[in-house]
This record gives sequence, C-alpha cells and structure tokens, in this order.
Amino acid sequence: MTILVTGGAGFIGGNFVLDWLASQNETIVNLDALTYAGNLETLQSLRQDARHVFVHGDIGDSERISALLREHRPRAIVNFAAESHVDRSIHGPGDFIHTNIVGTFNLLECAREYWNGLEGGEREAFRFLHVSTDEVYGSLSAEDPPFAETNRYEPNSPYSASKAASDHLVRAWHHTYGLPVLTTNCSNNYGPYHFPEKLIPLVILNALAGRPLPIYGDGQQVRDWLYVKDHCSAIRRVLDAGRPGETYNVGGWNEKANLDVVRTICAILDELRPRDDGKAYQEQIRFVDDRPGHDRRYAIDARKLERELGWRPAETFDSGIRKTVEWYLSNSKWIAHVSDGSYRDWLNKQYG
Ligand code: NAD
Ligand code: DAU
Repeated sequence: MTILVTGGAGFIGGNFVLDWLASQNETIVNLDALTYAGNLETLQSLRQDARHVFVHGDIGDSERISALLREHRPRAIVNFAAESHVDRSIHGPGDFIHTNIVGTFNLLECAREYWNGLEGGEREAFRFLHVSTDEVYGSLSAEDPPFAETNRYEPNSPYSASKAASDHLVRAWHHTYGLPVLTTNCSNNYGPYHFPEKLIPLVILNALAGRPLPIYGDGQQVRDWLYVKDHCSAIRRVLDAGRPGETYNVGGWNEKANLDVVRTICAILDELRPRDDGKAYQEQIRFVDDRPGHDRRYAIDARKLERELGWRPAETFDSGIRKTVEWYLSNSKWIAHVSDGSYRDWLNKQYG
C-alpha cells in the first residue's frame, strides 16, 4: 500500500515522513516543490530507502499529480504543502493565494477524478487528509474558551485567510462530490527540522550566534505549543480512524506567552551551552515592532480528538522544548546548511 504526501520536505511533512517510515512499511510518495522551506537534507537518512519516493513537483500541476495517482494508486493523500509563514504572507500574499488556495483546489480536483475511478474496497477506504491551522479561527481574548471545531472562521492574516479558503474548498468537495476528506486544525508546532525563521528555532540560533532575540510588541501574545511528533501521531490517528467529512482540532494543552517561551529557551541554553562571558542569554532579548494585525491568543480545545479517537499529546512543553534545544545543539550540519543557504546549492545541483 502507498500514501501520497505533499510538502513532505518541509518542517511538519518531513517529520511525518520520517516517523511514518520508522513505524511502518507502507511506501510514501512525497511530492514537494522545494520552495525555500523545502529541505531534502531533512530526509537524507531515507536516500537509500525504496519506501520513500521523492517527486519534485507542484500541487498546482494537475497533469503531474494525475500521473502520480495513476502510477502509484495511493490509498490516501495527506496535504501538508503550503506557504506557511505569517510574516512572509504580510510582505507578499500572492504565493499564499496561489499555493494554499489554487493549489489545494487543484489537488482536490485530481483526487476527485482519481477517487471516482476507484471501485469497491479501494474507493471505500480512500481518504484525503488536509492539514490546516488554528489561525483560521482568528484571535482569542484572555477570557475566551479555546477554539473548538464549531468556532466560526475569522482569519486575520493573508496566510490564515488562504488556509481558511482551502478548508472551505475541502469541506465543499465532501458535501458536493462526496470526496472522503478529513481536516485537522493544529496549533503552533515546534521540534526538530524547524526552519529558523519561526520563533523557536530563530531564538535558539540567534542566541548561540550572539545575535538579538526579537520579541514582537510586548511579547504577551499566547500560542498553544505542540511538539511536532505529537502532531504527526495525531495525523496518523485521524487518517486511521477519523470520520470522513469531520474536522479535528489538534493542540498541545500548552498555552505560553511568547516572552515566557523565549525566557525558557534562554534558561535551557544557560544550562547546556553557557555564554563564554558568563552572562545570561536573556540579555540578548530585544523588543521590536509588532507584527501588523498580530493575533493576541490562540488555544486549542483538543477534546474531540481525545474523546472520539483516543489521542493525547505525549510531550509537555517542558519536555518538548528541552528535546528541541538539545536537537539544535547536536545537529550543527543541518543548521549550518540552512543558515548559510547551502542546502539550496545541493537542491540546485540535484534538481537544476
Ligand atoms: P513548511 O513551510 O515548513 O513546509 C511547507 C512545504 O511545502 C515545503 O517543503 C515546501 O517546499 C512545500 N511546498 C510549498 N508550496 C508547494 C507547492 N505549490 N507544491 C508542492 N509543495 C509545496 O510548513 P510546515 O510548518 O511544515 O507546515 C505544514 C502544513 O501544516 C501547512 O499546511 C501549514 O499551514 C500547516 N500548519 C503548520 C503549523 C506550524 O506550526 N508549522 C501549525 C498548524 C498547521
Ligand atoms: O498557529 C499555527 C501557526 O503557527 C501555523 O499555522 C503557521 O504556519 C506557523 O508559522 C505558526 O504561525 P505563528 O505566526 O504563530 O508562528 P511564528 O513562529 O512566526 O511566531 C510565533 C509567535 O512569535 C507569534 O506570536 C509571533 C512571535 N514572533 C515571531 C518571530 C518570528 C516574535 O515575537 N518574534 C519573531 O522574531
């Protein structure tokens, strides 16, 4: 059996591919456009592994996707491919509209055509799992309950609006055409192989390099942090047992203010890799201009996933953030190649 994953050279998709092949023998066809966020070095351990079939391609390319579906006949598609960075969406929303909305539409159409051609048990078993975000629900005040699946959509950034649009398309393809879809809406992930433009890897690497640790605004914005391997286990669970047409919120039960996250990272680094001058890493914290339209608080109510499918995260924030800092301290080659851009040289050599 085979599944098709899109965006499997990115942060979450890469972890998903690695964890999948570590725990089962089912082949993964991994379609990724290798934007700046795609990094095949994450998957280097699979280079000789015939169960991982990497395909350099775009979810907007229908001919390519239809050919892949005909050739590999996957029992499921898991769609991670997206433009994912809120700040980049503010500077240049076009790519977000193109990939997150038009790309998802295209993938849905290819999946529908493929699924229509399946019969019997294969047709019954097929699933299209769409990976989305808690940001589609907008921003919470300090007193609001966490986001449930029934919250209305109120996206505030070009990124979250594009993800919201993709979720609506996925929903419509189920209601109109019967495509057996599943949607997961997840909170902030962190862990190994996270591209260092997002808060947690940025802070670890800037701290070690003696650079400022930029905190937007007052640093009191709250996120609900989920260790990436817990997210991957939730997706596997939803793929196995989720009910077609349903959405499942995935969260870590770990609400933290950004400033507290940064201070925690600084304290772990003080312990594991103290500064040469003996000073605390916290001295590198700098408050900078806030993100335009910055959402104040996200929090996920993940009880539906626990009640219906028995999933809970394995990591607390304390255990997950320590593992993450340790990972960055012991993976200097991956980090060096990401930081100096040389991972792109290899991609260019390999793929032109
Ligand atoms: P990422 O930016 O690290 O990776 C995205 C991957 O998609 C990259 O490998 C990139 O090359 C690929 N890609 C981009 N455009 C493509 C296209 N047109 N065709 C094929 N591949 C393309 O993102 P991530 O953090 O791994 O997020 C994965 C998914 O999870 C996204 O859909 C994102 O919206 C969602 N999500 C992320 C988080 C988070 O905290 N990172 C939380 C909730 C949901
Ligand atoms: O909530 C899920 C979302 O989490 C995903 O859908 C997105 O794909 C993912 O990128 C992430 O979005 P955020 O905007 O929350 O993540 P980011 O790491 O960019 O920022 C986390 C918080 O830290 C946010 O409140 C902004 C703040 N921040 C970020 C950076 C990069 C800073 O204070 N300073 C920074 O330099």
